[in-house]
Amino acid sequence: DHTHADTLRTPIVAVLGHVDHGKTSLLDTIRGSAVSEGEAGAITQHIGATDIPLDTISGMAGELIDPSDFDLPGLLFIDTPGHHSFSTLRARGGALADIAVLVVDVNDGFQPQTEEAIDILRRTGTPFVVAANKVDTTPGWNPQDGEPIQRSMEAQSERAKSMLDENLYEIIGQLSDAGFSADLYWRVQDFQKNIGVVPLSALTGEGVPDLLTVLMGLSQRFMKEEMAIDVTGPGEGTVLEVKDERGFGATVDTVVYDGVIRNGDTVVVGGQDEPIVTEIRALLRPRPLAEIRTEKEFEKVGEIGAAAGVKIAAPDLDQAMAGAPVRVVRDRTVDQVVEEVKAELAEIEVETADNGVVVKADTLGSLEAMANALREAEVPILRAEVGDIAPRDIAVAETANQDEHKAILGFNVDLLQNAESDLENADVKLFKNEVIYQLVEDYERYVEEKQR
Ligand code: GTP
Ligand code: MG
Repeated sequence: DHTHADTLRTPIVAVLGHVDHGKTSLLDTIRGSAVSEGEAGAITQHIGATDIPLDTISGMAGELIDPSDFDLPGLLFIDTPGHHSFSTLRARGGALADIAVLVVDVNDGFQPQTEEAIDILRRTGTPFVVAANKVDTTPGWNPQDGEPIQRSMEAQSERAKSMLDENLYEIIGQLSDAGFSADLYWRVQDFQKNIGVVPLSALTGEGVPDLLTVLMGLSQRFMKEEMAIDVTGPGEGTVLEVKDERGFGATVDTVVYDGVIRNGDTVVVGGQDEPIVTEIRALLRPRPLAEIRTEKEFEKVGEIGAAAGVKIAAPDLDQAMAGAPVRVVRDRTVDQVVEEVKAELAEIEVETADNGVVVKADTLGSLEAMANALREAEVPILRAEVGDIAPRDIAVAETANQDEHKAILGFNVDLLQNAESDLENADVKLFKNEVIYQLVEDYERYVEEKQR
C-alpha cells in the first residue's frame, strides 16, 4: 500500500555498544559504500545522525533487498559515542530509537557497556539486532569486500570458519545468559521472538548488506504503524546534547521524532530548574563533507521534519538538559505545552528519601537508569540531578545522617574545579564511573568495608 508513503517517517536506528567495538566505523562504512554506489548526494548528514534513503540501502544490499517490498523512506542512524550515555535516547516516556543495532566485537564478546546497552534495550522494549563486528580479524581470514556474509563465509578456510563460529556462539550464549534467545540471523524465523546476529566487518564491508536487509525488514514488518505520523504537526524532539557554538551561544542538538520544526517557532525545552520557553533563531544542519571549507560548518534551514537531527539555536538554552523534551508550541498555548513538558519530566523524576546518597548524571535518561540501579540495590537517594558535581552537591552530601550516605555517585560527569577544595575538606566520598553497575558496585563495596 503505497498511498501513505509520504506520511511514513524514517525509522530511528540507534547504534550502541562498548567503546571501540566499531559503532562509528560501521556507520562510516555504510556512508562510504553509499558514496561508492553513486548515491553520495542522497545521504544527508544530520546532527548526530545520518539519513540513508531506501534506494541507497537497496543499492548497497544488492540482491538481498527488493525495494518494492518496502514503503518506508529509509533509515536514520544515530551514533552514540562511547563516552556519551545512550540512555539520553528517550522520547515521550519510551525509547527514542525505534530499533537498535548492538555492535559487539566478535573477539571481545560482551563487555560492561554491552551489558548496559542490553539492560536499556530490555527495559525500553526496543527491538534490536546484534552486529558481530570485526570478523576480518579472524586468523587466516580471506576478505570479501562488501559481500553478503554467507558468500564471504564460503570463501574461508575450514579453520577460519570454525574459529569465527566459536566466537559467534560465544556471543549467542552471552545473549541467552542475558535472557534473549538468539541465533545467526538467517536461522531466525520470527525477529520479534529471537535476536538475529549478523556477522560483519565494518572494515571490509562484508556482512553490511545483510545488516541493512535485516534492519529494513524489521522496521517494515514491526514498525510501520508507528511510523505513520502527522508530518506537518508541531515538532517534537529530544535533546541529545547541549553545546556552545561560536556565534550562537548555547545550542541544543536535537533529534526530531514527530512533526515539523520551523525557524521562528516558539519552543519549550526541558531545563535544569524549569522548562525554557524560547524562540528559534536558527535551525542548523552540518554541510556535506565536501562543502566544509573553513568558514562555515553549518547550513541554515527553514524547517526540518521527522525523523531528523538538527541543531537548534535560540536564546536561554544554557540550562537545557540532555535527554529532555523539545516541543513546538504552534497553535497551542505556551502554558499548555509547558505543562506537557513538565508532565514528561515528572515521569522521569527520581524518587528521593530523607536519607541517602547524592546522584549526579550527564543526562535525564542516565539519571533514571542510575535511580533504577540504586533502587534494585536498595540504596536510598537524597538528591538526584543532571549536571557536573558542584560545591552545593558536596554541601548536600555532608548533611546526610549516616556516614555511609555521605557520598556522591557521579555517572559520566566531572567534578567542577571550584568544587575540588570543598571535596578535600569535606567528609564526603566521591564515586565516579562511566558504567552504571560498576558505580553501584563500587559504592556497595565501600559500604561493606565501612561496616566491617
Ligand atoms: P567509541 O565511539 O569510542 O565508543 O568507539 P566505536 O565503537 O565507535 O569504535 P570505532 O568505530 O571508533 O572503532 C574502534 C577501532 O576498531 C578503530 O581503530 C577501528 O578502525 C577498528 N575497527 C572497527 N571496526 C573494525 C572491523 O570490522 N575490523 C577491524 N579490523 N577493525 C575495526
Ligand atoms: Mg564512535
